[in-house]
Amino acid sequence: METLIPQVEVAPLEGITTWMFRQTHSRMFGGADRYFTPFFSPTSDRILTAKELRDLSPEHNAGVPTVPQVMTKRAEDFLWAAEQARELGFDEVNLNLGCPSGTVTAKGKGAGFLLHPDELDAFFDAVFQKVCLPVSVKTRIGYNDGAEFTRLLKIFNRYPIRELIVHPRLRGEFYKGPVHLDVFADALQASRAPVTYNGDLVSIADFHGFTEKFPTVDTVMIGRGVIADPALLRKLRGGPPAGREELKTYTQTLYQGYREAYGYPGTAAQRMKELWFYLINLFDDGEKYAKKMRRVGNAAEYEHLEAGIFRDLDLLTEARKPLDGTGKTAL
Ligand SMILES: Cc1cc2nc3c(=O)[nH]c(=O)nc-3n(C[C@H](O)[C@H](O)[C@H](O)COP(=O)(O)O)c2cc1C
Repeated sequence: METLIPQVEVAPLEGITTWMFRQTHSRMFGGADRYFTPFFSPTSDRILTAKELRDLSPEHNAGVPTVPQVMTKRAEDFLWAAEQARELGFDEVNLNLGCPSGTVTAKGKGAGFLLHPDELDAFFDAVFQKVCLPVSVKTRIGYNDGAEFTRLLKIFNRYPIRELIVHPRLRGEFYKGPVHLDVFADALQASRAPVTYNGDLVSIADFHGFTEKFPTVDTVMIGRGVIADPALLRKLRGGPPAGREELKTYTQTLYQGYREAYGYPGTAAQRMKELWFYLINLFDDGEKYAKKMRRVGNAAEYEHLEAGIFRDLDLLTEARKPLDGTGKTAL
């Protein structure tokens, strides 16, 4: 089978697409052209935290093409973050204009920045005068209304943005409900920067549907679909679905890696719970285990439950949809 889409990027998912995930996933399943790190937010003391340094360090990112993501509304902080990224060996930096979390948007960051187009324009103006690396942007289509995107695009078009990654939802829609493909289609026409599509691509059929509708889009970004089915990108490149033993090795490698990295089995179990929220959809009849997994409180419970999943449930070749917990399919 030929490749359906030339470029596939793995989306940033806070708490899930850590360096440990990126290393393990790329080594075991491959298929991604780039991985994006979950965002880091520069603070006024201009220090990368131990957690940020772990995620961004050259040895943890060796051999895996990775773009660090930054969330800020201050140009000087973004410039500082870009400089850190360059010193750590990255060759691009990404701006988060999509995070819908109330604590973030209340500060005018993430999707909250979209409510302040004049400030956003001034931010880009200051950033692009000095920035030491190419800049890509990951954005929603607006805060309250898709009509906001016309003005936002005019701003984006004034600057040499390397790649505009569009998740066609509004802030209040978080990651649920139908994506606004009409607004995405307009953006594709009007954007000066190359446009990457992001949102709800979970199965091979989703890709067929998407490429038929948008044959000129040559890059897509996938988040939850890759967590639910780590072999999705491999399948997209014509490879086989995940096997049971392979998947077991994958989850155990990740879990052991987290145990060693954190030194706390409970923290490792917490990381794995977040992964399993999506991965359980690759198993038939997984609802009972999904509920139990959400209640897991310690490492022993986690290990017991994981063994039960692999012992009792049939593996599917494609993840069950939707991945947002609503029971309704978005795309
Ligand atoms: C748990 C979770 C954490 C996320 N963390 C980030 C993040 O750090 N930065 C970001 O730009 N987007 C983040 N996102 C959004 C995803 O990158 C992506 O845009 C979204 O999940 C839609 O794509 P998908 O349908 O392929 O998953 C997050 C989404 C989820 C569900």
